[in-house]
Amino acid sequence: MTRQSIQITDELLDYIHTSNPPEHEVLTKCRLETANHVRSNMQISPEQGAFMSFMIRLIDARLAVEVGVFTGYSALATILALQKNAGPGAKLFALDVSHTYLDTAKQYWAEAKVDDLIETRIAPAKDSLQALIDEGYKGKIDFIFIDADKKGYLDYLPLGKILLRNGGLMLFDNVLRNGLVVDENTQDEAALAMRELKLLASADDGLEVCMLGIGDGILMARKLK
Ligand code: DHB
Ligand code: MG
Repeated sequence: MTRQSIQITDELLDYIHTSNPPEHEVLTKCRLETANHVRSNMQISPEQGAFMSFMIRLIDARLAVEVGVFTGYSALATILALQKNAGPGAKLFALDVSHTYLDTAKQYWAEAKVDDLIETRIAPAKDSLQALIDEGYKGKIDFIFIDADKKGYLDYLPLGKILLRNGGLMLFDNVLRNGLVVDENTQDEAALAMRELKLLASADDGLEVCMLGIGDGILMARKLK
């Protein structure tokens, strides 16, 4: 036991990767090709993908929602883990506001032969989440990954909570906002939203919350009732 997390060097990261299950070849391709993208920092790390897959397996998730798809790495990691749990019964609703990167994402999903298990919906995520509620998915979703417009997280929390089954898990990406959440003088709207999200989630007695200091911070919220 140590009081603080250690600094993860590149060498340690390689060591961590060798302990995790091998990354699917299409995930590797997606990650390497997205590395050249101007917005490559929006992609999750392979160790975050491994962690999310582990959690999806742990809770035996079959039905999931992702908000914010980018070039499709996290969605692919998610559906591959869901598929291990549920075979052809696995399903991911992949929500985004635009087609900009979705066409790229879809190519990877097709290459990995899981495109038939992913339903994309192009609309403001608030509307898509409400539509899922209206379509009868209330209390039916096992796993939700939120990785989109940061101010929107404050809407996605209550809508996601309605969709989650008891014991279901919702993960929010970038909750440390590159450290800005503890900058007293920050005017960064996303950082302010992340602070508010943390307060809202922590104060909700229907949720159990745990924040992880990996990547850019992940807030995990498990639905209790
Ligand atoms: C940004 C968004 C992300 O989801 C991320 O992982 C990194 C950066 C951004 O909007 O800058
Ligand atoms: Mg992110």
